[in-house]
Amino acid sequence: MQNTELISIEQRYEVGLYPKRPVTIVQGRGAHLWDAEGRMFIDCVGGQGAANLGHSHPALIAAVQDQAARLISCPEIFHNDQRAAYLEALAAALPFPARIFLCNSGAEAIEASLKFARLLTGRPRIVATMRGFHGRTFGALSATWDAKYRKPFMPLVPEFAHVPYNNLEALAEAVNAQTAAVLLEPVQGEGGVRPADAGYLEGARRICDEQGALLLLDEVQTGFGRTGKLFAVEHSGVIPDMLALAKSMAGGLPMGAVVLHERHGTLPGGAHGTTFGGNPLLCAAAHAALRVMQDDDLPGQAAEKGTWLLERLHALASPQVREVRGQGLLVGLELKQRVQPYLSALLERGVLALPAGPNVLRLLPPLVIDYADLETVVVHLAEILR
Ligand SMILES: Cc1ncc(COP(=O)(O)O)c(C=O)c1O
Repeated sequence: MQNTELISIEQRYEVGLYPKRPVTIVQGRGAHLWDAEGRMFIDCVGGQGAANLGHSHPALIAAVQDQAARLISCPEIFHNDQRAAYLEALAAALPFPARIFLCNSGAEAIEASLKFARLLTGRPRIVATMRGFHGRTFGALSATWDAKYRKPFMPLVPEFAHVPYNNLEALAEAVNAQTAAVLLEPVQGEGGVRPADAGYLEGARRICDEQGALLLLDEVQTGFGRTGKLFAVEHSGVIPDMLALAKSMAGGLPMGAVVLHERHGTLPGGAHGTTFGGNPLLCAAAHAALRVMQDDDLPGQAAEKGTWLLERLHALASPQVREVRGQGLLVGLELKQRVQPYLSALLERGVLALPAGPNVLRLLPPLVIDYADLETVVVHLAEILR
């Protein structure tokens, strides 16, 4: 079937939540995607952060095929070999000793981390940040800042406050003896690709410690190599109480997790749960994905390529660009105009990219993208931003 036919079928049956681009992606390999008519694109959307490994990675295909033929369903009321092996491997890769709750998406990981924070502290309040994005379920949405996501669904969960990001004074004022947790992204992704200033996470840790609040880091987008370390928190020396993970965790299959610092021990049986959590197929995929990230040093690749890309983008010195910023291969160009026409122009030239707010163009390629493709992206950006 052609692009147009497939587009009209989706338009007929979907509820219409997603503003879509006029392209039907049917195949991928590495950092390349193809549409239904065989046109190739360079992928700087990266599955919105889920495709750090690149598309159709052979190790992931093999792990999924093997495990699908052996066992797909095994709820957490039983033990399982794939789950045990993955938990051990992930725990060894974490920057602090931890226990892990497995779930199915980023919003679910945030949701669970908020519940765990209330459970562990007995306190109600959550302090999140302006421009923060944490997902769209009610708890996660209550922590998300942008009114366009929140307003239609009021009233949200009570006792959430938002303070300016990278502002420790405002954070210190907001956190008190009623605060269960502070929730932050180490780099704000959807909110415009805004990295934490040097010392911000350290300051947040200190403020939490002073008030007996927990520090929750949302690494749903920054985790699994994206920023140049396996986890973005490793750029600082900070040890959080929890990490929320998802996106590239299982190489693009739907999986999330809450990593809970070992010092908090275990949680009361039955306090939370989910049918698909710790599913053997996903655990096998996630284990294979983690091995690829480690064996091929995907964080190191993201660091090197990200440094190169940021330098090349700074050198563009385009009058249309207000600022270039990022960490690893999470890169944003803040434009002086709205970003949408530039995304369309890139698509016409065979490059798929993302917005991050109304005027930030975000590049989120698979970490395996090669320099030739990055160079092509820079050349097209130079032309459209001239
Ligand atoms: C930082 C962050 N947290 C949470 C989420 C929500 O994840 P999901 O879409 O898997 O629910 C996202 C999604 O973009 C995200 O970027």
